[in-house]
Amino acid sequence: MNKKIIVLGGDGFCGWPTSLHLSAQGYEVIIVDNLSRRDIDNELETNSLTPIKPMNVRLKAWQDVSGRKIDFHNIDISKNYDELLKLIESVEPKTVIHFAEQRSAPYSMKSSKHKRYTVNNNLNSTNNLLSAVVESGLDIHVVHLGTMGVYGYGTAGMKIPEGYLTVMLEKDSGEVVEHEILYPVNPGSIYHMTKTQDQLMFAYYNKNDGVRVTDLHQGIVWGTQTEETKKDGRLINRFDYDGDYGTVLNRFLVQAAVNYPLTVHGTGGQTRAFIHIQDTVRCIKIAIDTAPKKGERVKIYNQMTETHKVRDLARLISKITGSAIELISNPRKEDDENELHVSNESFLGHGLEPITLKDNLMEEVVEITKKYSERSDLSKIPCNSYWNKEQKSKASI
Ligand SMILES: NC(=O)c1ccc[n+]([C@@H]2O[C@H](COP(=O)([O-])OP(=O)(O)OC[C@H]3O[C@@H](n4cnc5c(N)ncnc54)[C@H](O)[C@@H]3O)[C@@H](O)[C@H]2O)c1
Repeated sequence: MNKKIIVLGGDGFCGWPTSLHLSAQGYEVIIVDNLSRRDIDNELETNSLTPIKPMNVRLKAWQDVSGRKIDFHNIDISKNYDELLKLIESVEPKTVIHFAEQRSAPYSMKSSKHKRYTVNNNLNSTNNLLSAVVESGLDIHVVHLGTMGVYGYGTAGMKIPEGYLTVMLEKDSGEVVEHEILYPVNPGSIYHMTKTQDQLMFAYYNKNDGVRVTDLHQGIVWGTQTEETKKDGRLINRFDYDGDYGTVLNRFLVQAAVNYPLTVHGTGGQTRAFIHIQDTVRCIKIAIDTAPKKGERVKIYNQMTETHKVRDLARLISKITGSAIELISNPRKEDDENELHVSNESFLGHGLEPITLKDNLMEEVVEITKKYSERSDLSKIPCNSYWNKEQKSKASI
């Protein structure tokens, strides 16, 4: 059986533990990454809270603890199409997992330069991958990491379905017919916009060329370590806490570790979807095992396990750590309050038993944020990327 998998973006927060998990499961893993995320740390003069190691050290450590080898290729897939194609043709993978995009919404809104970079990088990466799969002539399953943010953060009083919406259309004759469409997109940032465009590319290449695709609409990933990254200090996963890449939960955890008030944007009434990194890697394994058949449309799974309002998260962390909470102006252009009801039956139906924030947050506090708090730089936590001039001027009042 073909057990070769290419992981694009395999040096990143989700890609690294996924690569290790699949290698541990007996897959032959080949990582492709241009290390742009590490370059962005240099640009922003920040760093992972956890001391992540260079790629060659990571790979050596994995070989030491598991006896298994992972190959690495430094390719910018948004630019070096020929190299990507050559690799796909020579490896002949069963699956390609696509994490290789600029993934921060605030970073994508920093300036016109960052907007253009995010659009060029993300859209060309996805299109190059799909073109290369078609040109190779191989029947490869593409698994892509998308975001819950493609749906926008509101619902019309109903659960957000997994990608497709059933609508009733009235024909000219008056006859009413049922139709399924992609759930209408409503991106809240340039980054989210690139993910909505990815969806169209998947639908097109699937319709035109029969490319088999699973698109995972993922919530905010929390947690740092997985079973495999815990095996050796050199395998530790990254933990972002800065205003651009740090998710709301990570920023609160670092603030709590250094006794700084938890800074909540606006009223904190924004509801977000979450999933633990260990569940992310399990979901990707399920997506590989349940690949769409030839001729099947793009499979879309909502990859999240719970939703919380931001202020409730702050209260939860404050209860564990005793930290104060402070409300500050919101740099994002979004509603102060929103509800989010999401269907995630596909993964639960395949046996996923979620790791919950309520029961597992303490481990993150002790094992990561308290342990590495001396490496933190509090000046990096505030988000200085504003969605527009109005949000910026509100912040300066
Ligand atoms: N982290 C989350 O909470 C989260 C939530 C929802 C969706 N996602 C999605 O999951 C994917 C992975 O996210 P992550 O948190 O691991 O991000 P990350 O930035 O840590 O990892 C992305 C990796 O891709 C690489 N990369 C980017 N552009 C590339 C290119 N042109 N060529 C080669 N490599 C390139 C980067 O160097 C990095 O190592 C992203 O597509 C993101 O949109 C992440």
